[in-house]
Amino acid sequence: MPGRFITLEGGEGAGKTTLSRSLAAALAEVGLPVLRTREPGGAPGAEAVRGLILGQGPWDPVAEAMLHFAARREHVARTIRPALEAGIWVVCDRFADSTLAYQGAGQGLSHEVWERLCELALGALRPELTLVLDLPPERGMDRAMSRGDANRYEMQGSDFHARVRAGFLAIAAEEPGRCAVLDAAASADAVLAAALGATRERLAAPV
Ligand SMILES: Nc1ncnc2c1ncn2[C@@H]1O[C@H](COP(=O)(O)OP(=O)(O)O)[C@@H](O)[C@H]1O
Ligand SMILES: [Mg+2]
Repeated sequence: MPGRFITLEGGEGAGKTTLSRSLAAALAEVGLPVLRTREPGGAPGAEAVRGLILGQGPWDPVAEAMLHFAARREHVARTIRPALEAGIWVVCDRFADSTLAYQGAGQGLSHEVWERLCELALGALRPELTLVLDLPPERGMDRAMSRGDANRYEMQGSDFHARVRAGFLAIAAEEPGRCAVLDAAASADAVLAAALGATRERLAAPV
């Protein structure tokens, strides 16, 4: 694919949305065509499914994962794949790893079911670089709460968020070639610098 596919992952309030803005701006500044997008959502049908996922529930974990992958397939088909085919750098705030961390580590969905859904929904498409923003969940929750728009996941207990954090770190440990873990407790500027370092080293971006 001519474009490059970067995903940002991590728990609530870790700084994904903040970094997606600054990283996309830094790539654009060196003249690269960039698309910033986010999940669940990123295409009209996927945004409608986002409303279901966050507005309804509780869902059965497999049903919830299927909703995420239904939204993700729309997002890939209508937004991500066309952009990559056009040579655009795609910066995506959450992707399939979030489903493995939240529905897998958090809610007990098996790795096998997650893999099958991945294959079905994504074919061979995987991110080239995944930046995992790692932060103690209490700090992330404080940040997220100060934003004042808590969603259904943010309302879960501290055990859930601890499992989600461990889930993301396990994914990064399993795939060190794709994933870079960033210390999200650092300042937003320092997190951006680390993200740019990883993007330079791993994707040869001129940033
Ligand atoms: N590195 C950082 N240090 C301190 N505060 C941050 C940092 N990154 C983001 N924030 C703030 O924390 C809150 C949550 O950040 P956000 O990017 O929305 O996180 P996420 O998208 O991962 O939930 C926002 O108010 C944001 O301004
Ligand atoms: Mg966000």
